Amino acid sequence: GIGQPAKMAKKTVVETTINGETTEFLCEPGQSLLGALRDVMEMTGSKEGCLTGDCGACTVIVDGRAVVSCAQNAARVEGKQVVTQEGLPEETRRRWAECFVAAGASQCGYCSPGIVMKAEALLGKNPDPPRDEISRALLANL
Ligand code: FES
Repeated sequence: GIGQPAKMAKKTVVETTINGETTEFLCEPGQSLLGALRDVMEMTGSKEGCLTGDCGACTVIVDGRAVVSCAQNAARVEGKQVVTQEGLPEETRRRWAECFVAAGASQCGYCSPGIVMKAEALLGKNPDPPRDEISRALLANL
């Protein structure tokens, strides 16, 4: 009609499982998974750092694999299993917090959720990884 842009960008309904619950959300064309989690679903456990896929603060687990959610198109999680910081059991979160404190690794805490999710993905694949495998897994997280 008159006054409408020639090509309207269409929102897509994405059906996925987030932290064990089947969820539907509306995503804007090109919206990142991080944007959908934080802005659409108001789940702010995944942190917004560089937004260029380089710092790891936004890491979530998709089908068992650690993914930087700022660099992942939200529409691509259709039919997948997404686990965010909020999906970790309370006891697991407490244990991670204690480990970070014990190792003096907390700093300001902003990067911790991403590191925890990266480590959780590693432990999902290998519950008892050797030290060099842990270093390699966490290398990309600032
Ligand atoms: Fe996603 Fe930095 S915010 S990698």
